[in-house]
Amino acid sequence: MGDRGPEGGLFAYSELCPPSPFPLVFSGGIGQSGCLPCTPLAIRCLITAGPTREFFDPVRFVSNPSTGKMGFAIAAAAKAAGWTVDLVSGPVALPEPAGVMLYPVVTADEMLRQTDALFGPCDVLIMTAAVSDWRPKVMHPQKLKKDGTGLTVEFEPVPDILATLAQRRRPDQLLVGFAAETENVEANALAKLDRKGIDLVAANSVAGPDGAFGNELNRLILLGHDGFRHALGPATKAVVAEQLIAALIARLAAPTR
Ligand code: CTP
Repeated sequence: MGDRGPEGGLFAYSELCPPSPFPLVFSGGIGQSGCLPCTPLAIRCLITAGPTREFFDPVRFVSNPSTGKMGFAIAAAAKAAGWTVDLVSGPVALPEPAGVMLYPVVTADEMLRQTDALFGPCDVLIMTAAVSDWRPKVMHPQKLKKDGTGLTVEFEPVPDILATLAQRRRPDQLLVGFAAETENVEANALAKLDRKGIDLVAANSVAGPDGAFGNELNRLILLGHDGFRHALGPATKAVVAEQLIAALIARLAAPTR
């Protein structure tokens, strides 16, 4: 965890920028306001992004339409805020954010192993990855050949990465999930706070053409246990990412999480 500031909090604040609940300009020069940043010191952040792929033969898999844009934007915003960033990503077609350690993975099992290895020293975990919830029970070693009939594939659940990590969390770690919902977005997202043992959940609609998957714009509702509710966007994913990091900085600085 980072150095303690003069108030015993986590951050040192620039003399030109009094402590603010939502500092919006970061040391990297991005951001929307004209104030100098309130820079968090030595925060280590672990972010997951993109989809996972679960293969049933060497050339066919089950996945989802996640492009990884939101997670990559958050990684860039966290880096710009001065954080150390580990980014574990499923298969995406995005450039590597500068200054971020990128760990490419393919399957949910690989994502679990990689995040598990990086979780211990992290202060903040942000799980934006759209993990494929099921994997085929059988992985055929050779390409399945068509025989003119249909195909039945039996699935089994993959491990819940966030819930697994949360079981061995330290109280001082801040755990943030992303809830991808097509209906009852906030209620369904809130239920995931307890189910997964996390501090905050970003409720994210993935319904229809305006949904988050693949879109340039996004809108999140950040929800916490204590009635905390904070709307982010609608805006580009880069701006929503900055707003999220600013909200997390304020949350980290708060006496209770
Ligand atoms: N998640 C995870 N491991 C899984 C599934 C999801 O770590 N096997 C994480 C996601 O990265 C996200 C959060 O859990 O941060 C919520 O994911 P979401 O897909 O919205 O919900 P699920 O837990 O999969 O539940 P459901 O599909 O029933 O909504």
